[in-house]
Amino acid sequence: MFSQTNQVYPVIWHNDSVSLIDQTRLPSEYAFVEISRSEDMAVAIKTMIVRGAPAIGVAAAYGMYLGAREIHTNNRDEFLHHLENVADMLRCTRPTAVNLFWAISRMIKVAYETLGSVGDIKKALFQTAQTINAEDLQTCQAIGDNGLKVLPTRLEQLTLLTHCNAGALATAGYGTALGVVRSAWREGRLTRVFADETRPRLQGAKLTTWECVQEGIPVTLITDSMAAHCMKQGMIDAVIVGADRIAANGDTANKIGTYSLALVSKAHHIPFFVAAPLSTVDFSLSDGSQIPIEERDPTEIYQVGETILTPAGVEFYNPAFDVTPAELITAIITENGAFAPGELKQLQLKQMV
Ligand code: MRU
Repeated sequence: MFSQTNQVYPVIWHNDSVSLIDQTRLPSEYAFVEISRSEDMAVAIKTMIVRGAPAIGVAAAYGMYLGAREIHTNNRDEFLHHLENVADMLRCTRPTAVNLFWAISRMIKVAYETLGSVGDIKKALFQTAQTINAEDLQTCQAIGDNGLKVLPTRLEQLTLLTHCNAGALATAGYGTALGVVRSAWREGRLTRVFADETRPRLQGAKLTTWECVQEGIPVTLITDSMAAHCMKQGMIDAVIVGADRIAANGDTANKIGTYSLALVSKAHHIPFFVAAPLSTVDFSLSDGSQIPIEERDPTEIYQVGETILTPAGVEFYNPAFDVTPAELITAIITENGAFAPGELKQLQLKQMV
């Protein structure tokens, strides 16, 4: 939905149900899917009608409320038991983005901690889903502003490269990596953004370019394999990507292709930034080797439209994410500021005090 500033909100509560921008149909169609049942929200997350780590978290929070609304009992224990089943169903949708699990756990905690009737718990769950949505929007705006403080200053205006879509569509609005791009554009610090197409699902080609065009941000599309060449030609000043899960040591899971982008950035002495809310940091994992990597249907890599690309007898491997080692990351930009990957652990300690 557009406001006067062309802001995009991929998940909104509207007419007693959730309106999702159908991201599988962009950019050719700007259409909405109305979701009023938790099962349908699970399908929407799995099929990537809604995608991007923070947006998945917001959608799951509303999914929990929709599930709560479907439970018809006044018995608290029975209600909580059924709500745990809704949580399990939503957790099974996508394994890598930790925001999904974070949002569901927050909703479950609210349910257990709310005293009073089942009706009171349902109201608290609705309020919490709305809060998660509103907080994420504010968080992204803070990430955008914090990003401005760490972008290279040797040039007045920069050309940034991004991978996948970490924009408004992937969050409650504004975006993480693309939030920094937006803030840089607003402040006159951006010449242009290069968008990797992001094989196989083409989130860069379809979604990032669409968002940039909505706002008049100059955007150039390249295929993933062109990034190193563009860097060698001196066309890129910094790289900025989002994250699906960050381990306590700063190792970062993001869309497949991010790791190779970080390696070529290092080879060309180009700073490589990760922009993500603190809800994307999974302090329970000491390093990135423990992050579950989603494998998706191989048709995504061997079929384009109706056309099968490969001969019979080929085997396929389609991991949706990879893990970039912390040592390749210049800084992780969060709503609380930008940190070297090794500084994340101190943040956790502060949170525990
Ligand atoms: O498979 P997707 O489209 O959900 O993957 C999205 C990404 O990898 C994003 O970069 C990440 O979720 C950060 S979104 C702010």
